[in-house]
Amino acid sequence: MCMGRVLLGVTGGIAAYKACELTRLLVRAGHEVTPILTPEAERFVAAQTFEALARREMPRELFPHLVEADLLVIAPLSANTLAKLAQGLADNVLTQTALAFDGPVLAAPAMNPRMWAHAATRANVELLRSHGVELVGPEEGDTAEGEVGMGRMSEPEEILERCRSLVEKRDQLRGRRVLITAGGTREPLDAVRFLGNRSSGRMGAALAAEARRRGAEVTLVAANLSVPAPVGVDVVPAPTAEELARETLARGDADVVLMAAAVADYRPADPQAGKSPKDGDSWTVTLEPTTDVLRELGVRRTNGQLLVGFAADVGERGLERAREKLEAKQVDLIVFNDIARDDIGFDAAENEVVLVSADGERQLGKAAKERIAAAILDAVAERLGAA
Ligand SMILES: Cc1cc2nc3c(=O)[nH]c(=O)nc-3n(C[C@H](O)[C@H](O)[C@H](O)COP(=O)(O)O)c2cc1C
Repeated sequence: MCMGRVLLGVTGGIAAYKACELTRLLVRAGHEVTPILTPEAERFVAAQTFEALARREMPRELFPHLVEADLLVIAPLSANTLAKLAQGLADNVLTQTALAFDGPVLAAPAMNPRMWAHAATRANVELLRSHGVELVGPEEGDTAEGEVGMGRMSEPEEILERCRSLVEKRDQLRGRRVLITAGGTREPLDAVRFLGNRSSGRMGAALAAEARRRGAEVTLVAANLSVPAPVGVDVVPAPTAEELARETLARGDADVVLMAAAVADYRPADPQAGKSPKDGDSWTVTLEPTTDVLRELGVRRTNGQLLVGFAADVGERGLERAREKLEAKQVDLIVFNDIARDDIGFDAAENEVVLVSADGERQLGKAAKERIAAAILDAVAERLGAA
């Protein structure tokens, strides 16, 4: 068991009582816990309760920039503190600590389902993710006010498990260069129109954030992301298949390459200059194949490099094609997701994938893309002998 120094932030919400149980579980697992309650949290549960459970006093005046800890976990995370963290406000000891802390941060939001669904909260969540904060939950269920919906804090056992994993894996990929492609390429038809796809870049961004949390040096080759790229990774814009091929192959000596971008297989052979006029005539476009980056990487692969491809395809036949791709392109792992479903994969927050490798297949149940990213990197670390 890998133990760590954990800062436990607690904010003002009914679920603050569950943070007492989390404190107990963390202490029992051997972690050194320092509770930090917001003034509002103290209206729900007394700081003394946490101090007794943690066997440690709560700092009232912290010098946040001097804090040494392995992990900051905020549970529950209120809508209010979530917004403050997204914007970088520092008006109490917890928000000051969060702003000054440069280690991994795990947050368990808990709020009314309508607060969670609000556009402001959605935007703040995306920002927080882009800062590298890992979110656990919220879950669907009954809330304290008797409403049913998304907003319940994850159970303390689940949060404990994520803390354990973060502490244990914080240096797992240190010293490794990880190259990730993300998003969907756009192939010009003329100066304003393009052929594109629905990829949001969420999966690649989640992989980049997770690799960063594990200490890797991360480069993200980004094709038209509709989510912010995580902080702390080197971002290389590559809007077209040609640019993506060039930028990726130029960095093809990375220790690990994860090809999560949806790269066009074909592009218009002869894009028009200027804007093609609307004259009522039909418009015939000839498509030509683009570079198969994954195949190129497989051919050029340097010793020991780990190569992961992604296959978005349909049903059992699609999975069969993913197995063939593994061999044909000489890659170590193919992450297959079934695009026949619209609740997972493209432009969705969740995914459900099959990890296909030479030694077998592993089905990962439907989960947030962060969890899927963590499972993919677990498989990568295992193959690198770093697990
Ligand atoms: C009874 C009660 C329950 C509340 N529960 C929540 C909650 O679950 N989630 C939340 O975001 N805000 C909740 N609030 C509102 C927060 O307490 C309020 O936004 C507060 O300013 C949060 O401060 P903090 O983020 O600094 O801890 C609740 C308020 C009350 C009075």
